[in-house]
Amino acid sequence: MLLLYAESLKCLESAGPEGYEKLHDLLHEMAVCAREHFSKEEEFLPARNHPMLAEHAEEHEQFKIALADFLFSAVQSELDKTGVFRFLSEWWIHHILVSDFDCKPYLVES
Ligand SMILES: [Fe+2]
Ligand SMILES: [Fe+2]
Repeated sequence: MLLLYAESLKCLESAGPEGYEKLHDLLHEMAVCAREHFSKEEEFLPARNHPMLAEHAEEHEQFKIALADFLFSAVQSELDKTGVFRFLSEWWIHHILVSDFDCKPYLVES
């Protein structure tokens, strides 16, 4: 996830076709992350009785909805590098540093 944020910053700093190529790669990586990383967390958290599971899964769902919107815009040639950067910055602050941080004890192998 840190990689996604770093890539979104590089994407924002890259002008012209290079920036849009980076955005394409970034949207792909966000989709892979949503599929693999979120499903891993959602598999572990219920097994260990995480009390905020529903809320956590809902945040993952909101990420997927935002990603679908970015992909839809990209298909229509609206390449919103700033929007993706802002979204991932918010995600970093509100999900990674708060929600995922609270999950850490539930994700550690016992
Ligand atoms: Fe996570
Ligand atoms: Fe999470």
